[in-house]
Amino acid sequence: MLTARIAVLVSGGGTNLQALLDARDRGELPHGSLALVIADKPGIRAIGRAREGDVASAVIPRRELGFEEKVLAALRNYQIDMVVLAGFLGILSKDFIEAFRGPIINIHPSLIPSFCGKGFYGLKVHQAALDYGVKVTGATVHYVNEVPDGGKIILQRAVEILPGDTAEVLQRRVMEQAEWKLLPAAAEIVAAEVVRAARE
Ligand code: GAR
Repeated sequence: MLTARIAVLVSGGGTNLQALLDARDRGELPHGSLALVIADKPGIRAIGRAREGDVASAVIPRRELGFEEKVLAALRNYQIDMVVLAGFLGILSKDFIEAFRGPIINIHPSLIPSFCGKGFYGLKVHQAALDYGVKVTGATVHYVNEVPDGGKIILQRAVEILPGDTAEVLQRRVMEQAEWKLLPAAAEIVAAEVVRAARE
């Protein structure tokens, strides 16, 4: 195996997917190939980003019966070796994680173990950090296991909270200063590990 085939699961704007595409184009993902994007709802911006980035995409609505089975079938069809959750807002079951077998990684917009777990996603995470009054937040990329946001941490970066921040302003700063750098870097680390393991 020369590169690990990567599927990216998305639920929204897809700026983290864009960061992966840009890293690929700059040659910063040498051990991975972006092979498939799976969107869990139709019409989201991330699907257009996949198309513009020349990556195959599929829409599998999360609310539909058999969502996880359909995702697994797509991962098999595209011979996917690893999965990146890039702003994917669902929680994958233990059965799914066991059935896939390869590594699954996720980006979360806080310094885990703060402001994470069930119910903490998107702007809610940043609002919770502001409500608590912490002065530093950040982003974390971690392996996915059966505990939401509970798997081993791969990379983490801190970002300052500034006076007057709103959740939207803070979200943007965390994306720019942490998420868009961490996710491609972590994807490359894990892809290199997948390639190395396949060679053994
Ligand atoms: C990102 O901030 C990501 O960290 C977060 O959703 C946003 C998606 O933005 N993910 C979670 O909250 C997961 N619990 P994007 O679609 O522009 O990448």
